[in-house]
Amino acid sequence: CAAAVLVVRHRMKSNGKWGRAVAILKEFGEKCETPDWKLRQVADAMDVEMHAGLASEGGSKLKMLISYVDNLPSGDEAGLFYALDLGGTNFRVLRVHLGGKEKGVINQEFEEVSIPPHLMIGSSEGLFDFIASALAKFVNSEPEEFHPPPGRQRELGFTFSFPVRQTSIASGTLIKWTKGFNIEDVVGEDVVGELTKSMQKIGLDMRVSALVNDTIGTLAGGRFYNQDVIAAVILGTGTNAAYVERANAIPKWHGPLPKSGDMVINMEWGNFRSSHLPLTEYDVSLDAESLNPGEQIFEKLISGMYLGDIVRRALLKMAEEADFFGDTVPPKLRVPFILRTPDMSAMHHDTSPDLKVVGNKLKDILEISNTSLKMRKIVVELCDIVATRGARLSAAGILGILKKTGRDTVKAGEKQKAVIALDGGLFEHYTKFRACLESTLNELLGEEAAKTIVIEHSNDGSGIGAALLAASHSQYLGVDEN
Ligand code: GLC
Repeated sequence: CAAAVLVVRHRMKSNGKWGRAVAILKEFGEKCETPDWKLRQVADAMDVEMHAGLASEGGSKLKMLISYVDNLPSGDEAGLFYALDLGGTNFRVLRVHLGGKEKGVINQEFEEVSIPPHLMIGSSEGLFDFIASALAKFVNSEPEEFHPPPGRQRELGFTFSFPVRQTSIASGTLIKWTKGFNIEDVVGEDVVGELTKSMQKIGLDMRVSALVNDTIGTLAGGRFYNQDVIAAVILGTGTNAAYVERANAIPKWHGPLPKSGDMVINMEWGNFRSSHLPLTEYDVSLDAESLNPGEQIFEKLISGMYLGDIVRRALLKMAEEADFFGDTVPPKLRVPFILRTPDMSAMHHDTSPDLKVVGNKLKDILEISNTSLKMRKIVVELCDIVATRGARLSAAGILGILKKTGRDTVKAGEKQKAVIALDGGLFEHYTKFRACLESTLNELLGEEAAKTIVIEHSNDGSGIGAALLAASHSQYLGVDEN
């Protein structure tokens, strides 16, 4: 995962279609370059924007949202809690049985439901009714021994992975949609209120005790297992980060100083933007044609929703301007988002000598057959350029957080480890992306500091994290064994 992509391997021919295709590839590779000095500029800019976003509401493109989580799980949480995780193309409902320090998470069950695409761009009622009814069905399968005593409500941690201005730990209004959702009438509304309305309609007696972003859930879930966790990063359909800040370093926080002295911040780093970001013509057109032009620029360079489409756009240009796939442009290449990041990843990891996987994907998805090995190699290089840039920029983002929290350098004699909990499909399944992110972070930190920073995969931590936060904010806390 080098900063500069080795497109020079291809002998440039000054003329001919092949030469033109290679020239396009080479230019793209150069524009996407992320040498260390550039990543340091990105990290510095992130640090600056973090300060600005904490100083005042609207002070930066980085919203630096206050989560109202000032106490992360201690391990004492106990009881049966539900969680609902909404933020991608699927949502999950979970039942988590917590057993306190001794027993930890005793049991967890979950169900995953895919969201019909029309509900992602429909009405508030449509979406929340659908979710509430799936939740009700899941609750119905609750073993009898866990039924709450009469008069007692079930409690839910609601992971809602979009930018929300929290008004308390269990309420908050949606600022805007991201990641392909676009339901006008939810913007500005309290999402807990919307969900509660839908639950009441069908007689589901449940109370939302905590409303959290997936980064916050992942941070809480990570902290439950490892007290050294100080930040969480999601690399999935979208990308974002949360970290533990000192409350007195948040000028815009006018509430009481929490006992812990800490406040967890949801950065919404997907909306980060800086002149140091290596943007290409493909990124510009992807953004312009997206549901949220001008927004989430960092996310559009990094996350799973977009990487495959950047590759498609570069291929389309090669087809149009260099007849890369023959005299006509394959029509499927013009279909937005047809090339998904998991397919891009499969092509990128193809180790067969004749790049069979690449050939099959081009045929099955884009209906392009009879590709030569030389062409397939170029496709792999495109994937490499796009994934490398995304992974290296993510590492720069993490360096930004470490800078802000003073952990980017090692103070004499300090050995305290800091753990960053990572989750999301891109991180979990795109091996080369993950390896590149990790090696880039080490490279940026240098040998000594790299020893104190640990990246840990927090598998599905956000669901458990939401249940843990529901437990620590339970209305029955102190009333009984909870
Ligand atoms: C998007 C959302 C953010 C979420 C991230 C990862 O960036 O705006 O809230 O955390 O995706 O799911």
